[in-house]
Amino acid sequence: MALHPILIHPDPRLKKPSDPVTDLSDDLRRLADDMLVTMYDAPGIGLAAPQIGVNTRLIVMDCIKEEGAAPRPMALFNPEVIAASDDTNVYEEGCLSIPEIYADVTRPREVTVRWIDRDGVAQEDTFDGLWATCVQHEIDHLDGKLFIDYLSPLKRQLITRKMVKLKRDRARDSA
Ligand code: NI
Repeated sequence: MALHPILIHPDPRLKKPSDPVTDLSDDLRRLADDMLVTMYDAPGIGLAAPQIGVNTRLIVMDCIKEEGAAPRPMALFNPEVIAASDDTNVYEEGCLSIPEIYADVTRPREVTVRWIDRDGVAQEDTFDGLWATCVQHEIDHLDGKLFIDYLSPLKRQLITRKMVKLKRDRARDSA
């Protein structure tokens, strides 16, 4: 298993809609494992394939936060929201591709998602709480959408400018 570098916004690969999985190969299973390792290492609670530069409809997540609780790593291929509650929830979101930036985003409180699991079996489940926020945030990545796209254009511009500077600083530090 290997850690992958996580792309930082702005990057064209983060804005590009991802392609559906048609053949669940061992390579894709390995990619899912790599993404989980990369996510736990970051650390984060969710990661989408475009964030490591792969435009394939694959997300991983584990929103178990309680100290000492068993982890619940999930890999979802071709995840799709098939039902959403009218009831909404506000959550302060962040993103591994937009480090150290957090902002309130309003989303449906509960969503039913359909996906293919790593064994190629179709699954369906209803998520609420942090899981609901996370799964919607990650599926957005597959459509080239970031949580800052829910903010005002001005806020988005400020954040993007900060990220451009962060990337420049990091490139200089590693030179
Ligand atoms: Ni994200």
